[in-house]
Amino acid sequence: MNINQQLAFLNQTARELDINEEQRAELVQQTTAYLNTFLNNIDQHKAFSRKEAQGLEINNAQHLFSDILEIYQKEVVETGIVASSGGHLGYIPGGGIFAAALADLLAAVTNPYAGVYFASPGAALIETEVVNWLKKVFKFPNSATGVLTSGGSVSNLIAFTAARDKYGVKNEMVKNSVVYLTEQVHHSAQKALRIIGLEDTILRNIPIDDKFRMQVKHLRNCIEQDLQQGLKPFLIIATAGTTDTGAVDPIDDIAEIALKFKLWFHVDAAYGGFFILSSKNEMFKGIEKADSLIVDPHKGLFLPYGLGAVLIKDKRALLHSHQYTGNYMQDTKGEDIVVSPANISPELTRHFRGLRLWLPLKLHGIEPFKACLEEKLLLIQYMREKLNTLGFCLGPEPDLSVSYFWYPFEKDCDQNNKRLMHEIHNHGEVFLSSTIIGGRFVIRMAILAFRTKRKTIDTTLAMIQECLNRVLNPE
Ligand SMILES: Cc1ncc(COP(=O)(O)O)c(C=O)c1O
Repeated sequence: MNINQQLAFLNQTARELDINEEQRAELVQQTTAYLNTFLNNIDQHKAFSRKEAQGLEINNAQHLFSDILEIYQKEVVETGIVASSGGHLGYIPGGGIFAAALADLLAAVTNPYAGVYFASPGAALIETEVVNWLKKVFKFPNSATGVLTSGGSVSNLIAFTAARDKYGVKNEMVKNSVVYLTEQVHHSAQKALRIIGLEDTILRNIPIDDKFRMQVKHLRNCIEQDLQQGLKPFLIIATAGTTDTGAVDPIDDIAEIALKFKLWFHVDAAYGGFFILSSKNEMFKGIEKADSLIVDPHKGLFLPYGLGAVLIKDKRALLHSHQYTGNYMQDTKGEDIVVSPANISPELTRHFRGLRLWLPLKLHGIEPFKACLEEKLLLIQYMREKLNTLGFCLGPEPDLSVSYFWYPFEKDCDQNNKRLMHEIHNHGEVFLSSTIIGGRFVIRMAILAFRTKRKTIDTTLAMIQECLNRVLNPE
């Protein structure tokens, strides 16, 4: 075969990857039908199934799309948590608004190179405009910068790296440097510190009050003592919406201390940040004083998993950590550095993730998002009131939409609440998760899914009651 014959031969098989209009229509039609069935029945489906997944290995053979959808339904959707369900009240619930999925489809098919402005000015600008919008929401100055990430963990990583580089925390300095946080900080913070070589810094757990908020007077005392001992305080991590209890640390007061002692002030608002758009706005007073802030649209703006954001005031610190170039990047020379997300994040080639927030905001505007957040705040109140009348004990009034409860069994309280949790998981109609608060095993309720409605809470209460009866009256 000559080269032309070889190319023609290979093309016969290779072109299968570039399916034609008729094939596309057929696959889209099947996908739409599948999604309609899924969404039309989402309230009837269990939110959690304790099942193993299997039969997903790749064997290089071709399969019918209809068979693939069937496998997807059985082995992915019907195993574990249905995170797009309103019945997901565990951990921090996910979202999955449809407009974001359409954005992902557009982004995937057209596939612009969003990391570098030269390669796709439009895509890079959309990323920047999403960051600009976030800067407005959190009243960060124009001069601040930011980047869209895969989620809160990576956002924390980027922020702490910038803090580390601004304060030059390396080598011998690491073990004398001090980070202030509370026991309620999300574990991705400690993980990020470890990843970036700060495992040996001193972590000071500042005592919390009875609402799980950092106690500022202890923070101040602790910093003063550390300074007296010749240590190097450098980073305060506050949380605006703790994972376990939805608590918002006293941000404004902490900001003042950070300023006084010249420390980097980081706010983890991954879960709670977007409640700044709600009637809880006051709780976020002073958030604009943070040196870095993380927030997750895949939590508080109900997007599918895969969109976090980090805002950072000190552009130089961020660039110090992330700006690199290679000989093959000649075409990008001379551009304003921060127009290219690649210069301010660990990623070069990346999913065009900005579109999945930009498009829904353009399509829906902001009001439906605000209404949805406000609704979650009311639903947590509603659920707490009802649980109280059912005889459950409750944690303190939450700052946001996460709270917890336990049943006051006369004997073996923890063991019996674990049994109750087990029954709830076996039931699966609604998914709840558990935690330990003050040494006590408790069941959490995290209300953030956009499909969680009053009806969902009524279903949840009926399910909890049914499971409780099983624990109280074992067969
Ligand atoms: C307060 C807080 N910070 C950070 C994270 C980590 O975010 P992600 O899971 O998107 O990496 C979470 C996750 O639930 C969180 O609740």
